[in-house]
Amino acid sequence: MNFQLTEEHLAVQAAAREFAQAELLPGVIERDEEQKFPAEQIKKMGELGFLGMMVDPKYGGGGMDTISYVLAMEEISKVDASASVVMSVNNSLVCWGLEKFGNEEQKQKYLPKLTSGEMIGAFCLSEPEAGSDATSQRTTAEDMGDYYLLNGTKNWITNGSTASVYLVIAQTYPEKGHRGINALIVERGMEGFVVGPKENKLGIRGSDTHSLMFSDVKVPKENRIGEDGFGFKFAMQTLAGGRIGIASQALGIASGAMELALKYSKERKAFGVEISKHQAIQFKLADMATNIEAARLLCLQAAYDKDTHSDYGKSGAMAKLFASKVAMETTVEAVQIHGGYGFVKEYHVERLMRDAKITQIYEGTSEIQKIVISREMLK
Ligand code: CAA
Ligand code: FAD
Repeated sequence: MNFQLTEEHLAVQAAAREFAQAELLPGVIERDEEQKFPAEQIKKMGELGFLGMMVDPKYGGGGMDTISYVLAMEEISKVDASASVVMSVNNSLVCWGLEKFGNEEQKQKYLPKLTSGEMIGAFCLSEPEAGSDATSQRTTAEDMGDYYLLNGTKNWITNGSTASVYLVIAQTYPEKGHRGINALIVERGMEGFVVGPKENKLGIRGSDTHSLMFSDVKVPKENRIGEDGFGFKFAMQTLAGGRIGIASQALGIASGAMELALKYSKERKAFGVEISKHQAIQFKLADMATNIEAARLLCLQAAYDKDTHSDYGKSGAMAKLFASKVAMETTVEAVQIHGGYGFVKEYHVERLMRDAKITQIYEGTSEIQKIVISREMLK
């Protein structure tokens, strides 16, 4: 692996950093407090190309590699993890899933709108009784000839009320288990599709998480992604790349917290000197920097594996497992370095600490990442 970033990589990184500072930082505390979705900011992210970074330019995408995506995700997540989860779901679950497995008609219909931000996408796998145990899908998609009849409930869906396009995983042939599952494109406004109330969350409070209810929703057959029964593999393969996005989100949360802690430690005085002169603080900073560098290398390795068409299931899971742990540890220590000031909202680190936790839960909990990694090792 070549560790040198190209001019293009550095330009993407700088653009994302600039955008995050200029457009996401103002108002991030209020959006978190009021659980306000960053609608204007997401629109601008679409205009700047952050919502369909890896999509082929013929569908309106940026045609960039996964390394560029990791770099941009890190910068956006340093400032606003609520905005970066929208970016991650749209890029690596919805756009990637459609571009990789959709047919030409589906790609032409949805990708230009999803990459520009005119539409936002959602990925709907989890259910009240099927989270980690994702094969236990209760939502049904009954084959009615030229359409599927969709019934059931999805839980915890990011972009739940703001999306226009939903990739919904549902069971068509229960007797076939996971091989009987399909992935369907459901559009907002289809009759029988209701969005439940917004979840009141610990972190990423600006993001929009809802349950979704489907009651006799008629989904045309042409909205199925891939072959009949391909839905579970669709979900697993799409999530393998999605985990690189969430790993980069965790990396960004950690590096954002470290930057704040480093700056604060040089300003705050205790016992007549800046607290950065105390070795206990220096050691915390050293641990943070070392862990973050290791997390970054794992993210870049997974991105490189994906870009070079190597297997990235294990490296992506390792990146997510490790980066999310580093995000938790680093943000807790960043609050500690800030002392009492770290406990109040103005200093940002308490929000980053709350935001960090979700990275150990969604797109597969840390325990699930360990299952994925160890299964690969034991193959
Ligand atoms: N690629 C392709 N196929 C895969 C695969 C992959 N990466 N992983 C598994 N499969 C296939 C298997 O080959 C198997 O198919 P065959 O029997 O035909 O070979 C099938 O899927 C079932 O696999 P397992 O027997 O391994 O299934 P399992 O019940 O043991 O579960 C699991 C495997 C890895 C634990 C899986 O259930 C899982 O990933 N769970 C976590 C779910 C998850 O990550 N949810 C995230 C929701 S989206 C989200 O959270 C978005 C957000 O926050 C923003
Ligand atoms: P469970 O599966 O019930 O797990 C409970 C605990 O048991 C966890 O610690 C888990 O690791 C552990 N556990 C379970 N099975 C095992 C095992 N075999 N071995 C060891 N430990 C195990 N889902 C979507 O589909 N789309 C989204 O957009 C989306 N966005 C989300 C946004 C937020 C804010 C949240 C909170 C969740 C989101 N999710 C989404 C759902 C998320 O992916 C699930 O919450 C997650 O996969 C865990 O499922 P669960 O909550 O049912 O926990």
